[in-house]
Amino acid sequence: MAQDIYLTGITTTGTPHIGNYVGAIRPGIEASKDLSTQHFYFLADYHSLAKNEDPKKIRQSTLEIAAAWLALGLDTDHATFYRQSDIPEIPELTWILTSMTAKGLMNRAHSYKASVQANLEGESKDPDKGISMALYSYPVLMAADILMFKSTKIPVGQDQKQHVEMARDIAGRFNHHYGEVFVLPEPIISDDTAVLKGLDGRKMSKSYNNTIPLLADEKTLRKLIMKIRTDSLAPEEPKETRDNTLFDIYRAFASTEEVEQIAQRYTQGIAWGEMKQLLFETINAQLKDAREDYLRLLAEPTLVEEELLKGAKKARDLATPYLRKIREAIGIRPLG
Ligand code: TRP
Repeated sequence: MAQDIYLTGITTTGTPHIGNYVGAIRPGIEASKDLSTQHFYFLADYHSLAKNEDPKKIRQSTLEIAAAWLALGLDTDHATFYRQSDIPEIPELTWILTSMTAKGLMNRAHSYKASVQANLEGESKDPDKGISMALYSYPVLMAADILMFKSTKIPVGQDQKQHVEMARDIAGRFNHHYGEVFVLPEPIISDDTAVLKGLDGRKMSKSYNNTIPLLADEKTLRKLIMKIRTDSLAPEEPKETRDNTLFDIYRAFASTEEVEQIAQRYTQGIAWGEMKQLLFETINAQLKDAREDYLRLLAEPTLVEEELLKGAKKARDLATPYLRKIREAIGIRPLG
């Protein structure tokens, strides 16, 4: 069997938080240590345009996300780590795929439908309000990301599963029409335990403003952990571990034995203050070294830039000849 190729994109909106770490960065770095498979990780900065129109924020987010992956130990010699906008073949392939994408397929995208629904329920009643073509064709650009590198396995959150299926549909339709050019990808969905809760107990997400930044300084980290919402049970009262935000976050950072011990302490009635202190110490111990590297990279963005250009070179060495083949297949060829 051919070697599996893993590929995943990270949209450059916002500062990486511990939910991104547990759900994507840590498993991504871990998986990339498997030398029997290939790994592509990239910053989806063209995707971020659909949600973020502030140039300063896009640049800052790109820098912070790239620096975080590097500081946490991604091996960029094995994994290919690049910025989407450094690969001009991707937007070019996007247009080619657009011609093989049914408008009806795009109409069915959950994220687009949710925006339309919100508009219909809003004041203006205009279904198209604030919906750009970038938001509408978002899945086509994502299909180009995926198909460009013949990737077979796409690790994504549940919310992106449909987009990967659409990439598969588009590739299938293309192959049916022009011959076997694309490899059909399949989504790999992380289980729910990889979804971390935020300060208020809802899913940790920048849209809820309830995140703990991944490489925040010690003071900020401690302050935010102290803010995590708890109930008002007194220190000695027994407590439930189920659906408990502090426990859930702790579990994402501690060993099985440590988790068992703390579960014990819950039944005995650990004080929330003590649990928060313990959580702070556990997370801090794990991230301390990476935080130093991270701050160094933020202060020297050229080091990050160099890494991304190295990745772009590796990616383009694959994309350029493949795009030539794709253009050949659709009849865009030299005349003589
Ligand atoms: N849309 C994805 C997200 O918001 C990011 C992304 C862009 C992606 N291109 C991709 C993920 C290709 C996997 C494969 O999370």
